[in-house]
Amino acid sequence: MSTHAGSKRLTVPDLVARKGKDPIVCLTSYHAHTAKLIDPHVDLLLVGDSLGMVMYGMETTLGVTLEMMIAHGAAVVRGSKKALVVIDLPFGTYEESPAHAFHNAARAIKETGAQAVKLEGGTRMEETVRHLTERGIPVMGHIGLTPQNVNVMGGFKTQGLSRTEWPQIEEDAKVLARAGAFAIVLEGMAAELADKISSEISVPTIGIGASPGCDGQILVTEDMLGLSPSVPKFVKEFATLGAQIAGAAETYAQEVRTRKFPEQKHTYAMKADEDEPKAKSGANRE
Ligand code: KIV
Repeated sequence: MSTHAGSKRLTVPDLVARKGKDPIVCLTSYHAHTAKLIDPHVDLLLVGDSLGMVMYGMETTLGVTLEMMIAHGAAVVRGSKKALVVIDLPFGTYEESPAHAFHNAARAIKETGAQAVKLEGGTRMEETVRHLTERGIPVMGHIGLTPQNVNVMGGFKTQGLSRTEWPQIEEDAKVLARAGAFAIVLEGMAAELADKISSEISVPTIGIGASPGCDGQILVTEDMLGLSPSVPKFVKEFATLGAQIAGAAETYAQEVRTRKFPEQKHTYAMKADEDEPKAKSGANRE
């Protein structure tokens, strides 16, 4: 684990200062390898609990544990050096009480070197966000479609499509900002509502399935790389890596089966002076 003290990483105050300026670029990251590849191009790497679905094939994020988040978070910190790293607190690790949330958030920070945590929920999380922030743990909020709430919502449902829902969601954003959240993810909500919230609060909003008017955008990296079997409407695939991986595996299998691979250049030859075994001399010779 490294805390990266003194490194040139983007800090929480740097990110907050970007409100109303250049868009903030965020992607999810779950392991060192992709973190290293995308780190030079983004401002924030989120170790999202979406890893349960993307990496582990779970149906929802509810089965993700703090230990999983810590293992992946530490890998992302090791693989990156520039972006602000934020780690999700998984379901069941922060809702019970502010003290319980602090215990688990402190573990996530200490054991990974990430700079901040993210948690889901609006007004109901006010006390917890204040408790963590006042004790040195920066918190990113997450409202709108909150996947950990899937069973209450009855599915992954876009929020704020009707104006009657707006006051509560706007209140959620304002309360989180007042409680000390340094940024708020707006997920799966009507674009007009995301624009309104972005203009009403003083901290950056990060949109996913929200609006180009948010202060920043985030996508699940595997989705935008074309690695996911199906993606929601709000995802743009910037690459087709899924098809490339399948194609590479097919070619590899065919070359192994036809002994085309490995070629001589992929093998090691023994040392020249050991080509012929030397005759032994002396007492043992008979
Ligand atoms: O878990 C996650 O990846 C997230 C993003 C989609 C915002 O919360």
